[in-house]
Amino acid sequence: MLPHHTKLTQLGARLGLSTLMALALIGCSTAADDAPFREIVGTKMMMTAVIDPSADVVWDSVKSIITAEGIEEIQPQSQEEWIAVRNAAVIVGEAGNLLMLERRAKDQGDWILWSLDLVDAGKAAMLAAETRDPQALFAAGGEIYEACLGCHEQYWIQGDGNVMPER
Ligand code: HEC
Repeated sequence: MLPHHTKLTQLGARLGLSTLMALALIGCSTAADDAPFREIVGTKMMMTAVIDPSADVVWDSVKSIITAEGIEEIQPQSQEEWIAVRNAAVIVGEAGNLLMLERRAKDQGDWILWSLDLVDAGKAAMLAAETRDPQALFAAGGEIYEACLGCHEQYWIQGDGNVMPER
């Protein structure tokens, strides 16, 4: 960071630019807004390839299965299983950020709010996995589901009124 600034300031001085312009140069060099994002897929493929499979990992990690013998409680058991769920939660949460990229966002209003809900829910699931808390993980899974459903209800109305894909 520092050497970079120094170099730019020296460059400014050498070019005879005012300090102010040199500072403006530094400002530009750190602005994230114009980062050269190059999306390789649209929203639909983001759902299929990134979001849906990772959400499934979170949803499948804590559940109760009712069998003839009674109720079987499922939750991550080993270190590896907890880490796998944590990683899936990170993908879900960060994918919320990717949905807000300029070319994916359908507007700057509710679309952003649902995307932020996904970020927050993914983060909650990540923290629950890190603290090995099955109840919190289950609750975060519910929050993730609400974010999917909310956005789909508003932006993905299908002919049959089904807003969640078959699972
Ligand atoms: C910010 C809005 C938004 C959020 C949040 C969101 N989706 Fe979507 N999703 C969409 C839109 C829009 C489509 C329709 C895309 C299209 O057909 O072009 C879609 C479509 C899908 C599809 C169908 C893809 C296909 O091949 O037709 C699946 C599966 C899906 N979403 C799963 C999820 C899951 C699971 C979550 C939550 C973990 C989620 N989505 C969260 C907006 C969202």
